[in-house]
Amino acid sequence: MTEPSPGPKPLPLLHRLATPVQVLMTLVLYVELSALGGLAAAPGLYLAGKGFVVTAGWAPLPRAAAFGVMLFGAYFLYTLAVIFVAGAFRIVTFAGTPVGRFSYFSFKGFQWASYNAIILLVRYTCINFIRLTPFITLFHRLMGMKLGARVQINTAVIGDSNLIEIGDDTVIGGDVTLVAHAAERGLLVTERVKIGARVTVGLMAVIFPGVEIGDGSVIAAGAVLGKGTKVGSNEVWGGVPAKKLGDRKKAA
Ligand SMILES: CC(C)(COP(=O)(O)OP(=O)(O)OC[C@H]1O[C@@H](n2cnc3c(N)ncnc32)[C@H](O)[C@@H]1OP(=O)(O)O)[C@@H](O)C(=O)NCCC(=O)NCCS
Repeated sequence: MTEPSPGPKPLPLLHRLATPVQVLMTLVLYVELSALGGLAAAPGLYLAGKGFVVTAGWAPLPRAAAFGVMLFGAYFLYTLAVIFVAGAFRIVTFAGTPVGRFSYFSFKGFQWASYNAIILLVRYTCINFIRLTPFITLFHRLMGMKLGARVQINTAVIGDSNLIEIGDDTVIGGDVTLVAHAAERGLLVTERVKIGARVTVGLMAVIFPGVEIGDGSVIAAGAVLGKGTKVGSNEVWGGVPAKKLGDRKKAA
């Protein structure tokens, strides 16, 4: 007679709870983001609502046009307001990505997710309209980034701002990915990123946690600087994974 099959092994408790915990965390964050986004939208909506009442006697077409302008104005007012609402919330709650290696389903994992959710609120609703303006640097400063003077940021794809430092006169090129976290074998690994002064990070380059770039260096368009890559001063790096291509010529 053959032995009855033992059947599949029961999943450990942590694995069984993972999806319900993730759903719960997501719903909590939706409530938090509704509060922050709603507060930031309030001034523009208030003014647009007033405008709608004031134009009540107008002919339908001019009224629709005026209301359209007011709604777009309300959107740009939201864009400016959300920078301060997000920043104030970050400061009051001491939010930020913690440094280290931790499970997605840990308290540190929640800290990482809830802090980056605030950044994503701004990224997904309006950040493309503040690229290459002082408003994007103000936003990241308020989110805890250490930023030098005259830094130009032309990308929406920045996470973990509180672990990033950028020196004076550096340019972060179009659609660069700049993050201080990586998912690795079921863990989140986070490390500070330091970019010096007068650096150019080329179009669509990818900068991973632990990267350090010395003053005056150039990172080629499309380069991928893997975790912990150290670039010296006045060097040119490019490729996937990025390697040193040479040294920067001295200006005549
Ligand atoms: C890397 C870079 C600085 C090199 O410019 P350059 O000094 O004019 O040099 P060249 O184009 O003559 O290329 C020098 C070497 O780098 C290599 N190279 C150039 N661009 C590269 C890139 N994006 N990725 C990998 N290698 C690159 C070239 O193949 C060449 O290699 P070789 O010496 O073996 O032939 C430039 O190509 C670049 O990517 N600049 C970034 C610009 C940018 O995106 N600015 C921000 C947004 S506007």
